[in-house]
Amino acid sequence: MFISKSVEDTIAAGRTYGQNAAKGDVFALAGDLGAGKTQFVKGFVAGLGSNAEVTSPTFVLVHEYGDGRLPVYHFDFYRLEQSDAVLRLGFDEYVFGDGVSLIEWADRYPDLIPQGAKWLSFALEGESGRVIREGTPS
Ligand SMILES: Nc1ncnc2c1ncn2[C@@H]1O[C@H](COP(=O)(O)OP(=O)(O)OP(=O)(O)O)[C@@H](O)[C@H]1O
Ligand SMILES: [Mg+2]
Repeated sequence: MFISKSVEDTIAAGRTYGQNAAKGDVFALAGDLGAGKTQFVKGFVAGLGSNAEVTSPTFVLVHEYGDGRLPVYHFDFYRLEQSDAVLRLGFDEYVFGDGVSLIEWADRYPDLIPQGAKWLSFALEGESGRVIREGTPS
């Protein structure tokens, strides 16, 4: 469990995970609106040595950041309407590919998340406190 007291703390946590990430890793991120998932991804991408600007994919399935040590595939299931077979096909090519995948709101479609994914659950604690736990949301 990690307690973040600021945006910078959350970014730093993401950076550490990014520095330690290995090819094929999948991170399933869960937690409330504004709990810091995107900020964490920002740090993660920076930790892989990428200078890319990180924003959540809204109108496309995925954002790719290719200029770091490993390619990063950034998903956000928040606005996804349904997990149909077509999505699954495109999605699986990423998550079983050679990069690292991070999926915000992964708990909306848990059936799409590979078995070996590492779950991280984010929770709000006051205005600027956040708790980051390894594991699925309780
Ligand atoms: N300790 C903290 N860690 C991360 N963000 C914080 C923290 N304290 C305050 N914030 C604020 O909370 C918001 C977190 O936004 P962020 O987009 O990362 O959340 P999110 O979990 O991705 O939300 P969404 O579910 O909408 O995708 C930002 O506005 C940020 O400034
Ligand atoms: Mg987000």
